[in-house]
Amino acid sequence: MNLRFLSAGESHGPQLTAVVDGLPAGLPLSVDDVNPWLKKRQGGYGRGRRMAIEADQIIFAAGVRGGRTTGAPLALIIENRDWQNWTEIMDPAAGNWPRRKALTTPRPGHADLSGGVKYGHKDLRDVLERASARETAMRVAVGAIAHKLLGELGVESISYVPMLGGVESGVAFSWELRERIENSPLRMTDPAAEARAITAIDAAKAAGDTLGGLLETRFRGLIPGLGSYVQYDRKLDGRIAQMALSIPAVKGVEIGEAFAAAAKPGSEVHDAIYRSEERGWYRRSNRAGGLEGGMTNGEELVVRAALKPIATLMRPLPSVDVVSHQMADAARERSDVTAVPAASVILEALTAIVLADAYLEKFGGDTLAELRERVAAYRERVREY
Ligand SMILES: Cc1cc2nc3c(=O)[nH]c(=O)nc-3n(C[C@H](O)[C@H](O)[C@H](O)COP(=O)(O)O)c2cc1C
Repeated sequence: MNLRFLSAGESHGPQLTAVVDGLPAGLPLSVDDVNPWLKKRQGGYGRGRRMAIEADQIIFAAGVRGGRTTGAPLALIIENRDWQNWTEIMDPAAGNWPRRKALTTPRPGHADLSGGVKYGHKDLRDVLERASARETAMRVAVGAIAHKLLGELGVESISYVPMLGGVESGVAFSWELRERIENSPLRMTDPAAEARAITAIDAAKAAGDTLGGLLETRFRGLIPGLGSYVQYDRKLDGRIAQMALSIPAVKGVEIGEAFAAAAKPGSEVHDAIYRSEERGWYRRSNRAGGLEGGMTNGEELVVRAALKPIATLMRPLPSVDVVSHQMADAARERSDVTAVPAASVILEALTAIVLADAYLEKFGGDTLAELRERVAAYRERVREY
């Protein structure tokens, strides 16, 4: 892995922290490259009250100087505003059991029970504080930086919501709809479907229920040949799928038209190959979603993922208290009704990390200038191939 990072931080702890290693020197970088992404991740109709408390801001604590990366590891911090309300509950100092706000009735669909069993916790807050999707704020920050690097290499991206709570968008994606998507409370292309989805969210909330949906991200301007077919762990489709499935509540992922293509004959699935002097190598269809043989093929990358409904239900499912072993309602913790729009932003950011890593793997380069030169030379070679 060329672009590496690790994060730490609890949902209600003082801050989220990450160390990012492997970025070239000379990448222009300011908080304005990251904060809009953090804001997008916080948004979306159907979020809980927590997102009204937080106004996530990135702090560069190392590796950036004078508006540019230095080549040293980046240290990133996002403070949790809500921590002010949780200082006693989250206090690292020794304390008495049970702690205030101890959680002992695991929520079906969440990490509570398996995490409690695995690490021997009886206060399941010790599990959920890290299992919480709050962690994704920091990964989105890393993704925003990866996105900045990709932008320098001529790559652009978008994410949107093709379906929420069973309400499908009737308007096919096009890049011209980018502004509509960015200004939409549900990141949908279709205003009519969006209105119906908002009604569905309101109804789910009133019923103490939650909703899932589909998320999609696209990248264009990619060179062919990122990733490799030669070893299983170098295949880019596998690396993207791993990242996508690491998003909390994502349970399925497809590249291109994978699930629909499974029912069709090959002649209706594969994308015929063309070449012309002006365009070089190209396809007239992109059912493969930009990946063949574990490598980009130069067409648009299309990644779709399925997000299950939020696990915390205000009208809870049955559960068993891990201390008393008596039947009890699953815990109710302040929660989102749906997080599909936010999850789409997360999918875009995390895919950017995989792609930036793949560029650095193929081209290396200690400086951005070096990397750009190598990518430009490769683009020339591809045209002539
Ligand atoms: C942006 C985002 C926000 C989420 N918010 C909540 C939430 O408020 N309440 C909740 O129970 N789960 C929420 N989840 C989902 C849980 O974090 C997830 O279901 C849980 O960690 C268990 O992991 P798994 O679903 O991947 O198996 C959210 C997920 C995402 C992507």
